[in-house]
This record gives sequence, C-alpha cells and structure tokens, in this order.
Amino acid sequence: MFELNITPEWQDAIRKRSSIRHYTGGPTDEQLSQLGVLCKKLSWQGVTIRMFRGPGLKGNIRGTNVYAVIVAKRDTPPELEGYMGEALVLEATRLGLGTCWLGAGFNPDIVNKNVSLQSDEQIHCVIAIGQAQFPTFNPKRRSLEQVCKKDESALNALGPWQLTAVEDARLAPSAINQQPWNLEVDATSLSVLERRVLIGKYAGIDRGICMLHAAVGAKAFQRNAIWKKVDGGYMMRA
Ligand SMILES: Cc1cc2nc3c(=O)[nH]c(=O)nc-3n(C[C@H](O)[C@H](O)[C@H](O)COP(=O)(O)O)c2cc1C
Repeated sequence: MFELNITPEWQDAIRKRSSIRHYTGGPTDEQLSQLGVLCKKLSWQGVTIRMFRGPGLKGNIRGTNVYAVIVAKRDTPPELEGYMGEALVLEATRLGLGTCWLGAGFNPDIVNKNVSLQSDEQIHCVIAIGQAQFPTFNPKRRSLEQVCKKDESALNALGPWQLTAVEDARLAPSAINQQPWNLEVDATSLSVLERRVLIGKYAGIDRGICMLHAAVGAKAFQRNAIWKKVDGGYMMRA
C-alpha cells in the first residue's frame, strides 16, 4: 500500500504550492491529458481519481470549473486518499497549475451524479485545478520543533534524508490548516502519528497528504518510502 513512483520535481512543488481559490481559467488540453495519465496511475488499492469539467464547485472557487474527484471504496484508509490526491496536486503544481483541496467547497449532489457513485463508494474531497498566479510562498505551520517534539540540536543531529523528509512533511496542507499530525523520527524511520484536533473529519486524509510529503523528501536522497501501519499512524522506512 502507498506504493507510488515519486517524481523528484515534486519537491520543488512542495515549496511553491499554496491553496488557490481564484483562477484565470482551466488547465490546457495538454495539461489535462498529462494529469489524466497520472490519474490512471494513482487509481488503485480502493482509490479512483477522475477529472471533470463543469458545475460542482462552490462559490469560493472562481475562474475554473475543472476539478479532480477522489472516489474511495468504503474500507479504504483515508490516508490513501490523501496520499494519492496530493500526488495529483504536486504534479499539477509542477505543470504550473494552481490547486485547492476541497472538503466542504463542492456540491455533493452534482459531483456524486457526475461520478455515478456506487453504493460501496464515497467521496470526501475534490481538488480544484486551474491557471493561477502563485502567491509568495509563506505557509503558516507549527514549527519543526513542535511537530517533532525535538529541540534544535536534536533536529540538527538527524541524517539528511530524515531532516528533509520532516521539513517537507511539515509543509503539507490540511483542512482548516489544523495539521493533525506529530512526527516521530529516528535514525532509521519516520512516523506520521495522530494529533487530536477540534474538527477531525478530514484528519486521516490530512495525514496521508503529510505522508506523501515525507516520502517526497526521502526520495530527494534516493530513498523509497515503505509504509507500515503502527499504533496511532503510519511508519516509514526508507
Ligand atoms: C482535506 C482538505 C480539505 C480542505 N477543504 C477546503 C475547503 O472546503 N475549502 C477551502 O477553501 N479550503 C479547503 N482546504 C484548504 C486548506 O484550508 C489549506 O490547505 C490550509 O489552510 C493551508 O493553506 P495552504 O494550502 O495555502 O498551505 C482543504 C485542505 C485539505 C487538505
């Protein structure tokens, strides 16, 4: 599970992306076809990602009517939805496109009908995609010390792949920016663990997004993430 060919350029995308709500148009046909190829690769293990153009997004998203829908079989871990969905986000960013994860910002009646949702499937999130100017990168996140529960000297003692992986994980987007994760890191492993937040509805998806960012960080050092379920989250060896 969570096996995925990570594109090295996704690391630059992590340091460029922020949620975009105002667009100047949809993706070009060429961009759509590139994203369509990736959607096919991301669609397995109980998750299917499909692109749509048309109604379905709510009013706070302006200037694009293109979105990706993440369809999950009922017993699929929400972390997998986040992991695969964020891969699409980072690839769209690599192509110069803006994106925004949407849990509340879409109309379920329209989207469920577009997808012809089956009784064993559910949709928790869609991702708006379109042409946009990227704002200056300035994400508001908990500090690395808070997230890892380590002081500066302990963080500096980490190996290069672990340090890059936790830095990339820290930058992950999450619903209402709640960052419902803590990171536990040592010489051989990195774990993304649950942290209680006020509104936990999307916390599993958020942690999956965070896991992909950690895997992208490890990939920068030619390390391939292998994830294992542990108490309270997932652990990566790379
Ligand atoms: C699972 C998930 C659901 C989200 N739902 C919405 C939403 O319904 N409406 C919205 O405007 N933003 C939504 N967001 C975007 C977050 O508000 C945003 O990622 C967070 O505030 C951090 O900001 P940044 O993405 O610009 O770094 C969602 C993000 C995630 C990961």
